[in-house]
Amino acid sequence: MAKKLEGAGLRGQVAGETSLCTVGQEEGLAYRGYKIETLAEKGTFEEIAYLLLYGKLPNVAELRDYKELLKSQRDLPDSLKKVLREIPATAHPMAVMGTGCAMLGNLEPEDSIENQMKSINRMIATMPSIVTYWYRFSHDNEDISLINDEDTMAGHFLHILHSKTPSDLHRRVMDASLVLYAEHEFNASTFTARVCASTMSDIFSCVVAAIGSLKGPLHGGANEAAMGMIENWKTQDEAKDKILGMLANKEKIMGFGHAIYSESDPRNAIIKEFSKKLSMEYGDDSLYQVSEAIEKVMWNEKKLFPNADFFHASAYFYLGIPTKLFTPIFVMSRVSGWTAHCMEQRANNRIIRPSAEYTGPESAEWIDIEDRE
Ligand code: COA
Repeated sequence: MAKKLEGAGLRGQVAGETSLCTVGQEEGLAYRGYKIETLAEKGTFEEIAYLLLYGKLPNVAELRDYKELLKSQRDLPDSLKKVLREIPATAHPMAVMGTGCAMLGNLEPEDSIENQMKSINRMIATMPSIVTYWYRFSHDNEDISLINDEDTMAGHFLHILHSKTPSDLHRRVMDASLVLYAEHEFNASTFTARVCASTMSDIFSCVVAAIGSLKGPLHGGANEAAMGMIENWKTQDEAKDKILGMLANKEKIMGFGHAIYSESDPRNAIIKEFSKKLSMEYGDDSLYQVSEAIEKVMWNEKKLFPNADFFHASAYFYLGIPTKLFTPIFVMSRVSGWTAHCMEQRANNRIIRPSAEYTGPESAEWIDIEDRE
């Protein structure tokens, strides 16, 4: 068995500089110096995307113009819709997002780094449209309109998903969720995007690469995996028994633990509170109760805490979002952080190319094919 490398998974190693985000148990999570707790309470996704991409919070006119710009960019080219209509309902929604993004990059290629913001904003505007258009066509046989009066991504997404105007509470929770997921320093998908950007590839390719990394259950897929687990349990006692059994079998509980935070994930308290609020509005809080029971067992047994993904599962359920769209929502939001990182990488670039510790044979003699065993 391969020996476990000191610092395996690049844990604890500084792999570059960023002015976008701090992450850590002591420093907490902050985007450009603004604490996540403040951003989730006072900010909207569009303000936060602007902050990440343009380096400052927008003033009233800048925010109005930015929202208008994104709103005007939401519709998809006919040939992209055609491709999405061809993808079966059985496809993985993250693969759909990758395909949609790559197709957009074929139809509207990034013309130059000077014009990168044009392509970036186009991707931010279209991500909810891509996955929801495919979902509604393949699952409901509906060729939905992507034009509506919603002036935020949160409202637009819920509107096209349910074909109706969302409530203020639902818009508010969706918006906060997008704020929470927008940026998180050198996580696996962001690092993937930066590696791709460092080769001077185009911005669409960087996002497609990042989508591939985010798809994995150890990263973005955890909210979906958590839902797959908790939806089966009806009571707190049942959940507790099942979790204890899983821990005894040394199974990983999705939505718990974190590579950087050691005691708590600052995003958890925020989404947990929203999940509770939604559960009361929904009129049946059993999923929330089950989630809280699991949180208690995990802390008592393993001193493990819920990360951002765990209470997102119940919150999204109460918002009426199908489980398979959980991870794509992460993409809709994180594309702002990914592309801000790509811009930062491009502004001060050197190709990312680490080294490996070689563990193969010292030297090997060539054996002609007829003499091989
Ligand atoms: N459930 C059960 N045990 C867990 C656990 C979980 N979710 N997360 C970590 N552990 C345990 C590991 O089994 C390991 O125990 P050991 O030392 O006895 O072998 C120890 O805690 C360290 O875990 P490790 O996987 O090495 O930590 P990491 O820093 O490499 O991984 C994660 C971090 C996030 C990948 C990991 O916690 C995980 O897989 N969580 C579930 C997936 C998830 O929610 N991902 C979303 C992250 S935002």
